[in-house]
Amino acid sequence: MNSLQSFLAVAPVKPAAAGARLPSSSSSRWARVSACLATPAPPAPTAAKRRELSAASLAVMADEAKYLVGTYKRAQVVFVSGRGCKLYDIDGREYLDMSSGIAVNALGYGDAEWLHAVKGQAGELVHASNVAYTVPQTVLAKRLVESSFADRAFLANTGTEANEAAIKFARKYQRVAHPGGGAPTEFMSFSNCFHGRTMGSLALTSKQQYREPFEPVMPGAAFAEYGNLEEAKKVIRSGKIAAVFVEPVQGEGGIHSATKEFLQGLRAACDEAGTLLVFDEVQCGLGRTGSLWAYENFGVVPDMMTLAKPLAGGLPIGAVLLTEKVAAAINYGDHGTTFGGGPFVCAAALVVLDKINKPSFLAEVTKKGENFKQLLRTKLSGNPHVKEIRGFGLIVGIELDVPAGPLVEACLDAGVFLLTAGKGNVVRLVPPLIISEKELEQAADVIRECLPALDTPAS
Ligand SMILES: Cc1ncc(COP(=O)(O)O)c(C=O)c1O
Repeated sequence: MNSLQSFLAVAPVKPAAAGARLPSSSSSRWARVSACLATPAPPAPTAAKRRELSAASLAVMADEAKYLVGTYKRAQVVFVSGRGCKLYDIDGREYLDMSSGIAVNALGYGDAEWLHAVKGQAGELVHASNVAYTVPQTVLAKRLVESSFADRAFLANTGTEANEAAIKFARKYQRVAHPGGGAPTEFMSFSNCFHGRTMGSLALTSKQQYREPFEPVMPGAAFAEYGNLEEAKKVIRSGKIAAVFVEPVQGEGGIHSATKEFLQGLRAACDEAGTLLVFDEVQCGLGRTGSLWAYENFGVVPDMMTLAKPLAGGLPIGAVLLTEKVAAAINYGDHGTTFGGGPFVCAAALVVLDKINKPSFLAEVTKKGENFKQLLRTKLSGNPHVKEIRGFGLIVGIELDVPAGPLVEACLDAGVFLLTAGKGNVVRLVPPLIISEKELEQAADVIRECLPALDTPAS
């Protein structure tokens, strides 16, 4: 039996160790993991102390190091379950999740309606491919269109794929718009941006270390400084740019928000040059900023918008929303995907979209985000390493004058799971949108208590 088979095999339930904060349904999962690893459950460590990695955790980490390609520098924790805004590790220890699986789990873990829809659809039809019509896909497309600037949607599987589709749609649009030839084929994006890891999206991603080892990536990508309208205008006016890709709020790049003037200026420059404007809302879209779509905060609409992360509540999905002007250039066969828009993920996405797209839900995100920023400013003020606390709704960054890694690790030991961003000097806080004020206060308290880790020399 290999380790996956033994993980899936139902093993006798081992009770959680005394003091472990394990949700009841996790205990059988733990038993299966534990049985697979043939390791007894260690006692739960106490919160403030440095966590010692249990034999069970170490065994998983050893297998990861042996069998997986080493593409990820992972946090030293093995998660096995989640409830609400809490994650549980293999030893039953509880963590407040301020990461949402990188801005994905907007409804947290185990949302009852989401679960009901997923279970129901799994029993009906999971996949049929795009050679036929399926109901959840068309319903989802209709809801996305009706709730946004767009006239049509294309459904993909990830954020990077959504951006690849937008790149192709932009090229095709320009080709149709220039029947005599000379269509612009190049693209522009911005400093600190992140658009994905496939060859087209990667070409538009600013971080050199992501691109360089794989060059040549898609040729014809230019970068301008995020926020520098004059520089952007010069590139757009070259006449070579098919589309401009911009995140209204940059996540990976360090939680930087565009200004109204910048996005409105880009819109005007694009209109003047016949260039398409694409908003990448893969991370900042779908309620994260307190508006359904981030662009609503800026009074400007794009020609295309890409979405992904939170849309299906943790299942892989991507989407491009586009105007009829662009969609009219796309014909049968121009683009496609085997899995994109499958009934299973679309049924899940319908629940997420409907739950988030309520004025009361969105108003709560705005309120919680404002209170959280205020709380952080109060609690962290005076620490010389804290340079700025910024953000929009529940995408919040704490910029430090030193690498954020030691703080993130100390918070993990203390039971709060955080991410970094930017050049590694920004703590990125993107909790589930359903998080309570009390949980946000808990996160702020733990971050404050762990700040001394920034002054502790690495061992
Ligand atoms: C703004 C933005 N665009 C695109 C992507 C790529 O998405 P994916 O990892 O689903 O390919 C990400 C991922 O972090 C992102 O934050």
